[in-house]
Amino acid sequence: MVFVVLIVIQTILFLNRAICDEFNLSGEAGQAYALEVHVGHPPQKLNVLVDTGSATLAIASYPRKENDIYFHTVSSSSLINSGKQVQAKYSQGNWSGHLASDFISFPSLHLVPEVRSDIALITKSHKFFMNGSGWQGLLGLAYLPVAAWGDNAVVGPWLDFVDKIQKKPMSFLLKLCGTQSQTNATHYGSFKMFGDDNVKPDNNFVFRTPILRKRWYEVGVLSVRLLNYTNTKKDVINNMEKDRNDTHGVSNIDIESCRELNSEKSIVDSGTTSITLPNKIFRQVVDELKGAAQNSNMLILDEFWYRGEAACWPEPQEWSLPWIGIDLLSYEADNQYFTLEIPSQNFMRVVTANNNSGGTGTVSEFCYKLGLEASGKETVLGYTAMEGLQVLFNRSAGWIGWQESDCGSNARVTGPYNASTSLLLVCSLTRPLPDVNVSIKAAQWTLCVISIVAAAVLVYLLAPCVKMFLIKPLPIAQQISLSQAALVEQENA
Ligand SMILES: *[C@@H]1O[C@H](CO)[C@@H](O)[C@H](O)[C@H]1NC(C)=O
Ligand SMILES: *[C@@H]1O[C@H](CO)[C@@H](O)[C@H](O)[C@H]1NC(C)=O
Ligand SMILES: *[C@@H]1O[C@H](CO)[C@@H](O)[C@H](O)[C@H]1NC(C)=O
Ligand SMILES: *[C@@H]1O[C@H](CO)[C@@H](O)[C@H](O)[C@H]1NC(C)=O
Ligand SMILES: *[C@@H]1O[C@H](CO)[C@@H](O)[C@H](O)[C@H]1NC(C)=O
Repeated sequence: MVFVVLIVIQTILFLNRAICDEFNLSGEAGQAYALEVHVGHPPQKLNVLVDTGSATLAIASYPRKENDIYFHTVSSSSLINSGKQVQAKYSQGNWSGHLASDFISFPSLHLVPEVRSDIALITKSHKFFMNGSGWQGLLGLAYLPVAAWGDNAVVGPWLDFVDKIQKKPMSFLLKLCGTQSQTNATHYGSFKMFGDDNVKPDNNFVFRTPILRKRWYEVGVLSVRLLNYTNTKKDVINNMEKDRNDTHGVSNIDIESCRELNSEKSIVDSGTTSITLPNKIFRQVVDELKGAAQNSNMLILDEFWYRGEAACWPEPQEWSLPWIGIDLLSYEADNQYFTLEIPSQNFMRVVTANNNSGGTGTVSEFCYKLGLEASGKETVLGYTAMEGLQVLFNRSAGWIGWQESDCGSNARVTGPYNASTSLLLVCSLTRPLPDVNVSIKAAQWTLCVISIVAAAVLVYLLAPCVKMFLIKPLPIAQQISLSQAALVEQENA
């Protein structure tokens, strides 16, 4: 008997470990994915957003109204504070602080030793930290040229310090899974690091896209379009063959659109929620999406499609909208590309999930926001484009690998497809990166002006605010909007 109990306990412990190993990232709706970090000696536990859209490890080092967790500088015996001012600006919000260095370790990354790394100690911020968010800083994973800086000071990226200590370049893998259930909007994922010598054989990334310039993760996005199939698995397979035969090929890449998509830059950014697109392309994609929703008798108002407002229903929704295809330049040949196929579950994003069926007086409320935004000129593949996939960032070799994942939505990767000519040339993707030293200053200057996009995640939920509803009990059969503005009207089919 005791023996059996012991086995059961052991199994539970094992499973528990396995699950903990599996997920080391989590976050609330709209708030990207956070990882636990230990800073200083003795270690202080904080959570930082995993952000491929910036390059600095920046942590709060002062108490704030919204959150009482922060790095207590006086309690770390190993902190070296240079006192030099550094800052970063985002499209909304900014922070300033000091360049310092201390010991950094991540308890969930077994292969990565503790290293002394540069950090930015945030001492002042504006619209940067969110009320009630579970994180106190950012872990920037991009390249040095876009690191936070000040007069005579640049905050070296944590990954560079790791590479130096390990004496080999490290790659990292993001496996973002989205939410685990329809009634809880918290999302989960995993972050892993690999040296080139401990690559697991099952991480054989067939689909790789080149990093065109090593600042942000800048890639060649050739087109963003609707795929004409919807959610059911069988349909996907049947239509995929059809799609492959009659629409893929050179004709699939519209030269004007691919120039437009990359005219500023196209980046892969885990610190941004949405797929953001140049205005014209956003309009094309969303118009089509809205049309498809109307054709399936789902009337959702324009505020949802074009103005980033939430739409709510009294029960969770199963979407059967067309998928979104994102064509990426292939690393293997410049006349090849492959397609990320993103199901509606990814871009019809749950922002609140309250099941009140058991309670009295209030109705349940399941709210969604569109994971697509207009950006002006840039293209940003936020985590909406990564959920349900595994994405390997091979920083030193300069490519990003994409592969299907065993968790999350059934997003997929297909290809490779051939074009008759060099896509690098026809889409004007060849702008050279100037000499690194020069480019650091240049890029940093740009940074100040444009923003490093990372904090776009902050804006997702706040602007415009998720609508607050006057909630009243509804007759069961009625399917209408809960929003004051009647954001959603669903017709009976
Ligand atoms: C933050 O949220 C809490 C409740 O979640 C609220 O009491 C507090 O006033 C908010 N603070 C600010 C600065 O908005
Ligand atoms: C969602 O799940 C997480 C962990 O499983 C839990 O901590 C959280 O309270 C849940 N949220 C809601 C609204 O139930
Ligand atoms: C990174 O790319 C290089 C060259 O393509 C390769 O040798 C190395 O194994 C890759 N690393 C990982 C972790 O895949
Ligand atoms: C909501 O809760 C009720 C009772 O608590 C349960 O029967 C129902 O299945 C839940 N709905 C969802 C979508 O989980
Ligand atoms: C695409 O081109 C490669 C070499 O350039 C060739 O090996 C491959 O067979 C081609 N694929 C198709 C589907 O035409």
